[in-house]
Amino acid sequence: MLSKKVSNKVITSDNHKDISKKIRFIGKTGIKYLKDTEINGSFIVIEGPDASGRSTQIQKITEKLEADGHAVVNTGLKRSDLISKGIIEAKRNYVGRRTMALYYAADFADQLENKIIPALKAGFVVISDRYIYTLIARSSVRGIDKNWLHQLHSFAIKPDLIFYLNVDPYNLIHRVFKKNKALDYYESGADLGISSDIFDSFIKYQYLLKKEFSIMQRKYGLIDINGDKDINDIYEEIQTKISDFLNCAKNIGTN
Ligand SMILES: Nc1ncnc2c1ncn2[C@@H]1O[C@H](COP(=O)(O)OP(=O)(O)OP(=O)(O)O)[C@@H](O)[C@H]1O
Ligand SMILES: [Mg+2]
Repeated sequence: MLSKKVSNKVITSDNHKDISKKIRFIGKTGIKYLKDTEINGSFIVIEGPDASGRSTQIQKITEKLEADGHAVVNTGLKRSDLISKGIIEAKRNYVGRRTMALYYAADFADQLENKIIPALKAGFVVISDRYIYTLIARSSVRGIDKNWLHQLHSFAIKPDLIFYLNVDPYNLIHRVFKKNKALDYYESGADLGISSDIFDSFIKYQYLLKKEFSIMQRKYGLIDINGDKDINDIYEEIQTKISDFLNCAKNIGTN
C-alpha cells in the first residue's frame, strides 16, 4: 500500500539523496533488524493537547513543503489498519491502563514499521500528528511507571524536530467547543476521577499533562511553541525552524 503511494510521488534528487543518515532509535537497542537502515527523509512531529491547533499547523506546513518540492507523508496516533479498531473496542470495554498503553504502543509500532520508516527511507518528509510523548504523558498521569513507559516506547525512532504546541488549558476549552461542541471523556481526564465537574476535570487534567510535557521537554528535546498566539505567528515560527533544519541537512549532504 505504502510502496504504491511512494511510487506515485515524485521524489527529486534534491530531496532524496542529500540527507542520507543512519536510523536513530530512542532506546539503545531499538529495532535490531532495522539498525543499519539508511534514512533519506526528515521526520517532524507536532505534539500538543486536544484542539491545540495541530491539524491547522500540519495543513499549512504540508502545503508549504509540497510547494517547495518535498514529498510529504502525514501520520498520527490511532491510525494503523491493524490496531485502531481494537483500541476503540478496548476503550469501550474499559480494559486496564497498562493494557491500553500496550494497545497504543502496538498501533504506533505498526505505523512505524509499515509507514513511517519506509517513507523516510524513500526520502519523504514525514509529519506526525502526535507521537510517543502524548502516549507517555497520558499514561504517566494515570500512574504508570515512567521507566516502564520509556522502555515500552524505546523502539521508536528519534524525530529530527519535535514541536510542542503549549496552550493555556482555558484557551483549549474554547477551541474544543468551537470544534466539537462538547468535551471528550478521556481528553477531560474524567476516568481519573479528579473532579465531578467535567470542565474542572478538563482544566486539571490538561495542567497535569502540561507538567509531564515540561519534564519530557528536557529529556527528549521538544521545542516549546507558544500555542496561545495567532495561527499565522505560530506557523511562521515553526516553518522557519523547519526550513533552517532542511537547509542545514541539505548543506551537510552536499559538502
Ligand atoms: N492559534 C490558534 N488560535 C485560535 N484558534 C485556533 C488556533 N489554532 C487552531 N485554532 C482553532 O482551534 C480549533 C482546533 O484546531 P485544530 O483542529 O487544528 O486542533 P487539533 O490539535 O488538530 O485538534 P484535535 O486534537 O481535535 O485533532 C479549530 O477550530 C481551529 O480553527
Ligand atoms: Mg487534529
